[in-house]
Amino acid sequence: MSAQVVSRIKPTIAPNKHPYMTGVWTPNYEEYNASDMQVIGEIPRDVDGVYLRNTENPVHEAIGRYHPFEGDGMIHMISLADGKAEYRNRFVRTKAFMAEQEVGHSLWAGLMEHPKKSLRPGWGAHGSLKDASSTDVIVHAGQVLSTFYQCGDGYRLDPYTLEQFGTESWVPLDGISAHPKLDERTGELLFFNYSKHEPYFHYGVVGADNKLKHYTPIRFPGPRLPHDIAFSENYTILNDLPVFWDPELLKRDIHATRFYRDIPSRFAILPRYGDADSVMWFEGAPTYVLHWLNAWEDGDEVVMDGYFQENPVPGKYPGAPPELERMMAYLDQSLLQPKLHRWRFNLKTGQTREERLDDANLEFGTINQRFAGRRNRYSYSAIPKAGWFMFDGLAKHDHDSGTSKSVMFGTERYGSEPAFAPRIGATAEDDGYLVSFISDMIENRSECILVDAAHIEAGPVCRIILPHRISSGTHATWAHGEDIRAAAARRAA
Ligand SMILES: [Fe+2]
Repeated sequence: MSAQVVSRIKPTIAPNKHPYMTGVWTPNYEEYNASDMQVIGEIPRDVDGVYLRNTENPVHEAIGRYHPFEGDGMIHMISLADGKAEYRNRFVRTKAFMAEQEVGHSLWAGLMEHPKKSLRPGWGAHGSLKDASSTDVIVHAGQVLSTFYQCGDGYRLDPYTLEQFGTESWVPLDGISAHPKLDERTGELLFFNYSKHEPYFHYGVVGADNKLKHYTPIRFPGPRLPHDIAFSENYTILNDLPVFWDPELLKRDIHATRFYRDIPSRFAILPRYGDADSVMWFEGAPTYVLHWLNAWEDGDEVVMDGYFQENPVPGKYPGAPPELERMMAYLDQSLLQPKLHRWRFNLKTGQTREERLDDANLEFGTINQRFAGRRNRYSYSAIPKAGWFMFDGLAKHDHDSGTSKSVMFGTERYGSEPAFAPRIGATAEDDGYLVSFISDMIENRSECILVDAAHIEAGPVCRIILPHRISSGTHATWAHGEDIRAAAARRAA
């Protein structure tokens, strides 16, 4: 292996036992370039692109309590082409990261603290947060776009070198949330933001040329916490779910999330370039949904799959330190109980039909993104480890046959959100690989695994050993090499 530490960020955190700063969540501070890594099996030659994962790595002692969603963003990248792999990782040089590097301590209090504890004005719907750009990562117009789920700037990086290009200029004043959605067929990016001031929500579309084409306010009844959106070929589906900050406590700037069981879930369906006047509102069973899998049109209906939380505000985590018991409960997928679920919205009648697709707890799913917005037969979900924000296996659902298969990563091995890398020249929907970064706590190392998506139960076809054990984190994505090169050629023209 050829591995070089190109930089080391000096942390100022004292050793501690925080459950999300130790074990699989131990932060990384070294930035590597690596190639010629040890491979168990063989890197397939019929795959070409990059797998990127965002992670949270706190550099400074928190002001108050630390929540893992506010750690400094670090992108891990592995590129695969011609049977070779290269790996790099970099902190995202956000405005906040740079400011804290300059002063040598935290400047912003986190999600569990009162915003007035922050030492500088910050970002985020919550207010005065650090925009860590650590939640999500996607490639659009040939460049990485990293985002923070509470809304902030969009940071641009090169997908292969992780060279940093700073903030994206089309991002509006109210910011961009995590989960902007790429439509691979048009190259468009659909995005949203939310805030505590009217109209509480905006929706926008950016072209394949990286120019803002559409940006429109959608009035919500009050401050809401939408995390993700979905799209079909012609429509975008937004959500106003009955899990939001208690309006009475919010008057005192106290952010306490409640589940309003008597308020239905509401879904806004609008044409891709539609505005508030063209929204059709639908109602459904009360719940919270962190992530949608896909949506498509079927006759008069728009169909959408996602993870329906049975218990979206789970209370306290048994046995946790009192100051962390709520945070740990919100991260425990076995308490939230997210179930693979289907919503059918009839555009003619305005009625919603719902269907449970699986009773297992599943989250952080993906599909072959070439089918995004169109009907997909297969979906791939991460299997959560009970008690934790960690994943120890993958499940594949065949929605035609109603069957599923799974593969577990092994003892003390935890994976990242899978992404689907299609085989070069593939025509079948599941002809490709599921890619994930694994942290192996027994071997004390990390690896990138490729699993044949048509036979996931057979386990990895290839394991590429990374130069260090990487922290667990949140979202990941796959970008096709040919799309990145085509976008670079467009920019150069
Ligand atoms: Fe997310």
